[in-house]
Amino acid sequence: MDFRHHIALPSKLSTLAADSLVVVVAGAQADETLDPVLRQALDSALKSGDFQFKAGRTLYLHGLAGVKASRIVFTAAAHATPKAFKAAVAAALAVLKSGGGKQVAVALSGGGVSAAHAEVLVAAASEATYVYRHTKPSAPAEPAFRGFGLVCVKSEVTEVQKGLVLGQALAAGVTLARECANRPGNQCTPTFLADQAKKLGRSHGLKVEVLDRKAVEKLGMGAFLAVAKGSDEPLRFIVARYEGAPKSQAPVVLVGKGITFDSGGISIKPAGEMDEMKFDMGGAASVLGTLRAVAELKPALNLVVVIPACENLPSGRAVKPGDVVTSMSGQTIEILNTDAEGRLILCDALTYVERFKPAVVVDVATLTGACVIALGHHHSGLFTNDDDLAIQLLSAGRDALDTCWRMPLDEEYDECLKSNFADIPNVGPRAGGSITAAMFLKRFTVKYRWAHLDVAGTAWKSGHHKGSTGRPVGLLTHFVLSQQTKR
Ligand code: BES
Ligand code: MN
Ligand code: ZN
Repeated sequence: MDFRHHIALPSKLSTLAADSLVVVVAGAQADETLDPVLRQALDSALKSGDFQFKAGRTLYLHGLAGVKASRIVFTAAAHATPKAFKAAVAAALAVLKSGGGKQVAVALSGGGVSAAHAEVLVAAASEATYVYRHTKPSAPAEPAFRGFGLVCVKSEVTEVQKGLVLGQALAAGVTLARECANRPGNQCTPTFLADQAKKLGRSHGLKVEVLDRKAVEKLGMGAFLAVAKGSDEPLRFIVARYEGAPKSQAPVVLVGKGITFDSGGISIKPAGEMDEMKFDMGGAASVLGTLRAVAELKPALNLVVVIPACENLPSGRAVKPGDVVTSMSGQTIEILNTDAEGRLILCDALTYVERFKPAVVVDVATLTGACVIALGHHHSGLFTNDDDLAIQLLSAGRDALDTCWRMPLDEEYDECLKSNFADIPNVGPRAGGSITAAMFLKRFTVKYRWAHLDVAGTAWKSGHHKGSTGRPVGLLTHFVLSQQTKR
């Protein structure tokens, strides 16, 4: 898709060369500077009740005399904020989707567009055109959109350009994450994830290393191995590095949970909706997507992405409740529930990354059903004891419209994690399940600044719109970019 800017004043929108013109009207009344032809059409629709200044409302007009674009969509936004602007653009694109317009010009009536508006325009366009097709060639055709332009004035061009570039890198990252996560478990295997990382390495000049079972055994990753051993599908431990700064500069490290299917293992899950556990590699998909976005933007920093990937299945060789394993850190773990496998593969990855002497480590995981109960599907769960890091991640989420909400990690919760047979059990009581999962990970992260994102409620959608969301690629990319200026 082609993204550009159009320099135009609100009074000249009728002369814009585009197939479709989207006019976002924010607030409660029409803007005085709006082109008179458009203003008249809008006023008449307001009078007749065909349009209202109410977020979500749209008005489609075809072949309006005196306007060059043959299609016009007025779309109401509660505010001129990027968030409201994005929702209004999305509503307009839903209207235009089934039509034939290829070139779409988008204007914010009243003006005042920023880099953030440009960024979210690209996101809305990308979301409106994404169709999963890999295992469904008969899926409906993509909309005819070929290019988008954002109307701005000369002084806004530099910012708008920046926003368009960031938006495109983000869209590429989000799309990669969605494409990986939407694939069925029989195709998106640990080996597939490793191949995706290698492919990204070749196209973007990254160093990619893939460890197999033997190498993982040598490292002493007893927890990761315990999960992987129930499946015949070979495990992979993926390490990919983007180097945009001198080697001496401490890297940002992202760790993504890569369970390509989670049956629960011997502690097997109920059958209903178990298919959705193919999305249990959403954390892995999001760190790969972030790596792609970052590699396209080429910021001056170092980034390491680490993915422990395997399946969690029951079998004659599977790990059993009560088994005790030794993690790479040396701590022994009593596996009381084989369905709490995410923390087992992550804890060894979190020990492994110590070797990078990281500036900061963020792990991303579809870790607990309890997090979905706590936060629903709007915010991801954020866990960290580092207040500065929390502020940075919260604000990255707000900037990306991919938000997270901070959860507690007080020492008191540690009392739930006691075992008579090992240093730590892999589960605590049901209450506060997402917190005890984070407390478990915390035992393996004492050597660096660390945060954990539980994306169980945000990485995919269920029901009619079942599919990966690509979250939290937006949050993570904004966060990684923000680390550039921090040091
Ligand atoms: N992948 C699941 C978490 C999950 C469940 C995400 C439902 C999204 C929807 C994870 O591996 C898991 O099974 N967690 C258990 C932990 C429990 C056994 C302590 C859970 O949440 O039930
Ligand atoms: Mn599980
Ligand atoms: Zn899982």
